[in-house]
Amino acid sequence: MTQPPAPPVFPGGPGLFALDPAIAHLNHGSYGAVPLPVRQAQEALRDRAHADPDSFFNGAADRLAATRTRVAAHLHTDPDGLSFITNATEGANLALDAIPLADGDEILVTDHGYGTVVDAAARRAPLNTVALDPRLPDEDAVRETVLAALTPRTKVALLDHVSSPTARLIATPRLIADLSARGVTTVVDGAHTPGMLDRPIAPGADFWFGNLHKWAYAPAGTALLHVAPSHRTRVRAQSPSWEDHHGFPRAVEFRATVDYTGWLAAPEGLDLLERLDAEKVRAHNSALAAYGAELLAGLPGVELLPHTPGLPLRALLLPPGIAETRDQAVALREEIAARHRIRVLIWPRPGGGGIRICGQIYNRPEEYERLVAVLPEFLG
Ligand SMILES: Cc1ncc(COP(=O)(O)O)c(C=O)c1O
Repeated sequence: MTQPPAPPVFPGGPGLFALDPAIAHLNHGSYGAVPLPVRQAQEALRDRAHADPDSFFNGAADRLAATRTRVAAHLHTDPDGLSFITNATEGANLALDAIPLADGDEILVTDHGYGTVVDAAARRAPLNTVALDPRLPDEDAVRETVLAALTPRTKVALLDHVSSPTARLIATPRLIADLSARGVTTVVDGAHTPGMLDRPIAPGADFWFGNLHKWAYAPAGTALLHVAPSHRTRVRAQSPSWEDHHGFPRAVEFRATVDYTGWLAAPEGLDLLERLDAEKVRAHNSALAAYGAELLAGLPGVELLPHTPGLPLRALLLPPGIAETRDQAVALREEIAARHRIRVLIWPRPGGGGIRICGQIYNRPEEYERLVAVLPEFLG
């Protein structure tokens, strides 16, 4: 096999992070990584809180609102429709609590959905789980499969914006419009889209939530919930506090005495992305993930899956018998990390699980080459 040309290292990229250089971090999509300038900004905020707690907490609600306005400008959206939240899982719970459900109503999810998010739906209503073949060629095929699965009882569709295991754009504007036209309330899991897409909030969705702590370089615990105007009065804080009388979004984001510094530092991550040139970062990350995927696809029994162009993640199927259950997938992930210090996502699937790799500005082509050299050890 002739090796594809390796993309160059992003100038200054690796030096922006304090990641352990002995580990190949090819799994940015799971937990992100916080660049040093963002960590410094958060530390400076913590210093201010420690220096004068009264002033810090008495002014917190207004500072959050001002920070949210900065974040909304980056994401091309209206700050009144947006609230800071802790993570995507919380977003799913807040959104689903705001949708009135009657006995017999169903929630449509797909088998690409994220565990904690799908579980949030399952706690509230019976699920209609659509199986999406990971080999479906494009977004139109995905859309047709989802629409064909609707039943008269489908009240809500809870869909990934970009799916975690398979790195596919699922909640396209067209699918959201088609679902809305059929009277289905749409909830979009945009855990990956801030920082990844220029317009990360799914247009037309009734509810959208997404993490800033993955691709937007924010500290962990920094996420957003976006709510369409007609639903806002029904969104209630999970632990109502002093700002509850304001309603959404202030009631949801103010939580009395907690550490707000991650949220307040969030604009630093988005500013950094802009300083680096967001388009350049996205093109670089996608090219690196494509490079790794092309190398992996050369291994016997490993199959590259169709993907949405331009995304910084790629998914491939592993041979039959590998990672067929969740326990096997976790064991394989940990074995690769323990033996070779390489971090990747392994996802389970009957008939042969999958591997997902990511590209980020701290990655180097040789990290993917390392993975390709050792993976055959695990493939039987
Ligand atoms: C698609 C998707 N949804 C939800 C989550 C959960 O995110 P969090 O841990 O921030 O709640 C993830 C995490 O990787 C994800 O990939």
